[in-house]
Amino acid sequence: MRIRKAVIPAAGLGTRMLPITKSMPKEMLPIVDKPVIHYVVEEAVKAGIDDILIITGKGKRAIEDYFDRSFELEFYLREKGKLEELKQIEEIGEMVDIYYVRQKKPLGLGDAILHAEKHVNGGPFAVLLGDDIIVSQKPGIKQLIDVAEKRKVPVIGVESVPRELVNKYGIVDGEPIEEGLYIVRHLVEKPSIQEAPSNVAIIGRYILTPEIFDALRETPPGRGGEIQLTDALQILLPSQEIFAKEIKGERYDVGSKLGFVIANLKLSLQRGEMRNEMLGFLKSILREIPDE
Ligand code: G1P
Repeated sequence: MRIRKAVIPAAGLGTRMLPITKSMPKEMLPIVDKPVIHYVVEEAVKAGIDDILIITGKGKRAIEDYFDRSFELEFYLREKGKLEELKQIEEIGEMVDIYYVRQKKPLGLGDAILHAEKHVNGGPFAVLLGDDIIVSQKPGIKQLIDVAEKRKVPVIGVESVPRELVNKYGIVDGEPIEEGLYIVRHLVEKPSIQEAPSNVAIIGRYILTPEIFDALRETPPGRGGEIQLTDALQILLPSQEIFAKEIKGERYDVGSKLGFVIANLKLSLQRGEMRNEMLGFLKSILREIPDE
């Protein structure tokens, strides 16, 4: 099992980030100076993925423009001798082969994934959701690819979350078989705190096999009236072993307002050119805030 293809669903309406997402795709929101989706594509490329399908929808054209070459801009930057910027811009257009397909109605993550069936053409594939950015030594999705290639089964990326947040995630009930690795027994999308079988949450990274498509076709609308990928995985469970792997790294939920602001702060601190000034600024505002 070699995983070379990835699918990035980017058709969601971004309601958690309104009003900005009224006219701007949430995937294009900037984390320092790059859009969220750039980080996600970079993670996939670093993991050895060489073919990416982005599932887009209405109002998402800015994503295609971003990954396209921009000859006018390149010409202008060359004329002005801005060679560093030119290099950066050219590299974005050449990162990886990206294909697009449009989801015509926002029927949920599961329906979006169904749009990838022809493209993945019978092979296993990675799925990366743009709401999570993972900063780690070994790319988050590569951590799953390694398990999937060894065990030849679908693998779900997970992280333990505080109990009061389980209703924001797909939750996995799993049997631990080694440090950070579970065999999945049961999955439930956004359970209430009382119903949740654990606090092991799905964090937007998956390795799937083509069997998922039939399961998705059988999946009735679930939470929010949408076709849920978590429900389709649950349908698959009796006939297919599925693993869950804790992803090591720092995860930022950039699909929420607080997570988005935190990601900008933390990732700006990782940028040499702004780290010192940013630290100085943070220290000064902390001094100004009285103890509460
Ligand atoms: C989706 C999945 C959910 C998962 C989450 C991770 O939910 O349906 O299982 O835990 O992504 O970000 P969404 O946040 O799109 O509602």
